[in-house]
Amino acid sequence: MGYILLRNCAKMPIVGIGTYMLKGDVLKQALDFAIFKGYRHIDTALSYGNESEIGEVVADRLKNGTLRRKDLFVTTKVPPVYLAPPFVAQSVEMSLENLKMQYVDMVLIHSPWGCINRGDGQLRPINQKGERVMEHYDLLETWKAFESVYNNKLAKNIGVSNFTANQIERICQKAIIIPSNLQTECHVYLQQRRLRLYCASRGIVVSAYAPLGAPASPYRDKQHPLLLEDHVVEQLARKYKKSAAQILLNFLINNNIPVLPKSQNQNRLRENLDVIDWTMSPEDTKLLLDLDCGVKYFMFDWAKRHPEYFENEPF
Ligand code: A2P
Repeated sequence: MGYILLRNCAKMPIVGIGTYMLKGDVLKQALDFAIFKGYRHIDTALSYGNESEIGEVVADRLKNGTLRRKDLFVTTKVPPVYLAPPFVAQSVEMSLENLKMQYVDMVLIHSPWGCINRGDGQLRPINQKGERVMEHYDLLETWKAFESVYNNKLAKNIGVSNFTANQIERICQKAIIIPSNLQTECHVYLQQRRLRLYCASRGIVVSAYAPLGAPASPYRDKQHPLLLEDHVVEQLARKYKKSAAQILLNFLINNNIPVLPKSQNQNRLRENLDVIDWTMSPEDTKLLLDLDCGVKYFMFDWAKRHPEYFENEPF
């Protein structure tokens, strides 16, 4: 499996399995199969509510000797309700308990948009109108708490998700430990060139969620065309005898972007791993580069009134 080096030389496998919305036995079967096939990078979050299942599958494989912890790269995220400094470590400890692990390889601030913590364990607090109740946390203070998580060896790496370049730079200006990863929506329609250029200047690896355009997500903005059905992508798939998904993933990987496609289907899990060690011609790569059109499938409407939500800055 190919990998990308993080700033401290830790290896992030270039293909990970995304697990958002996967739960229960479906997740357990998919993940066990994925590990069997060679996936060594798992992406989860406290708010996905699926860390326990992931922990069970990994623990079984560690126990029967078919997996070594040091070969696995596990990312989790601290949810918006736990961005106040005293709750950051608690959140990571909850994740570790769920995952049955001593450490995670990466922990991310899930989003810069904080939510109120009412102390009831509710991760998506809402008011009587059904709206998300937000709270403004000082992200620099949150980051200091992340640095403690790192120093206390609960996480081998720390980073952010859904942040703009300005938000990351605010952290970098004051940080002792620079974030090593930005996880953000990134695919052929949203290539995030500005954000990636900024992150490269700081040595921050950008990893891609929704690399296939999240075709089945109920939260996807349906006004946009489906990336997997794009004619140029389909044409290249025919030419290279690959699937449309493989064309999309290969393009990102060849741009040094780790990808986190999710699937519960064995054929597609296998397919999504077979995206390394081949390249498209420069002319065909250019066709894909030209598809970049700023289509963002996830706008996070619930966060639009948050003071850290900047609609006109890429995130
Ligand atoms: P399924 O679980 O049935 O395979 P994203 O990672 O961009 O959010 O996309 C995930 C969605 O894409 C899931 O609904 C998944 O469905 C589907 N998917 C995953 N891999 C492939 C593939 N190789 N070809 C087509 N659809 C895929």
